[in-house]
Amino acid sequence: MNKIFFIFALLLTLFADENVYKPIASIPYDKDLANLGKQLYFDVNLSPKKLSCNSCHNLNLSGNGTNNSGINTDNENNPPTVLNIAYSNLFFKDASITDLKEQVKRTLKTDMDITPKEFNNRVKFNVAYQKLFNSIGLSANYDNLVNALVEFEKALVTLDSPFDLYLKGDKNAISMQAKRGLKLFNFYGCSSCHNGNNFGGNIMAEINKSFSVGCNVSDGKVKVPTLRNVTITEPYTYIGAFVNLSDMIRAMSVCQLGIIMPDEDVDDIVEFLKTLEGKRPKILE
Ligand code: HEC
Ligand code: HEC
Repeated sequence: MNKIFFIFALLLTLFADENVYKPIASIPYDKDLANLGKQLYFDVNLSPKKLSCNSCHNLNLSGNGTNNSGINTDNENNPPTVLNIAYSNLFFKDASITDLKEQVKRTLKTDMDITPKEFNNRVKFNVAYQKLFNSIGLSANYDNLVNALVEFEKALVTLDSPFDLYLKGDKNAISMQAKRGLKLFNFYGCSSCHNGNNFGGNIMAEINKSFSVGCNVSDGKVKVPTLRNVTITEPYTYIGAFVNLSDMIRAMSVCQLGIIMPDEDVDDIVEFLKTLEGKRPKILE
């Protein structure tokens, strides 16, 4: 019995590495609404606070921000990247929202002081906003604002990372070192939390408090972030505790796995994570 189990486990580790993953795919979205959403995303006049989404999640960079930028009003949490956000099932550090539309509504209210009433009153006689929404046959109102931002978020998928090309059959799309990194990523169990095609975003995990010195630990369970594009979305963790990816991984190993990872393994995993950097979404061109 044990032997059969062993062989099964061996087969699983031999073949699991790439077979458990599928290349990330684009998500269908309404082009007109998404393009309207794009304009609104970058619009600093949208909020009475003169802040755009882009002020905190900078899409000229990697769709994320920093908690010490002086712009972010939530000085505890680091604005996570909005790239591939539609592949998350949970939103915000406390995973209190499970739906893209509710996420946008919460964000408008807490980060931008925009409520349905406030927005509808403000844009009722605002010719610029009327024109903008009318150009795609909609009236300027809160519901359409939310829908447009949701469609834009759906368009923010980063396709064709080297890892995705590898999964599609180009065996040379990633280096030998990255392939070792992928094996180690699964071997160390990183994939148990950073799981699925989005390498995260679907579950919560306890942050281990007992290693708080190196971990700058937050409280209790938090949303597991995506690792797609992680090589360009520093600083890391919700509180921006690390800017260096290797340091972050060392801390993760100590905090989440209770081990000190050999430097070669850290390097291999970093090399693998680099292959998760996808192409800039078309809508941003
Ligand atoms: C003042 C800065 C600020 C502005 C403006 C802002 N955000 Fe955020 N955003 C944050 C912070 C900080 C978080 C993390 C909050 C948390 O996890 O509790 C966040 C979280 C998010 C998340 C959830 C990310 C995740 O992985 O769960 C999304 C999506 C998002 N914002 C999109 C937007 C959009 C779209 C806009 C414009 C409508 C916007 N944000 C405006 C700071 C901001
Ligand atoms: C038990 C679940 C769990 C395991 C196992 C795990 N992680 Fe994480 N990881 C998390 C959570 C939760 C966070 C967010 C921590 C925070 O913000 O304080 C995170 C954050 C990260 C980050 C920072 C991402 C960002 O954008 O801020 C990286 C990089 C990372 N993990 C890599 C790894 C690697 C590599 C492994 C395997 C060696 C691993 N993780 C194992 C749960 C886990």
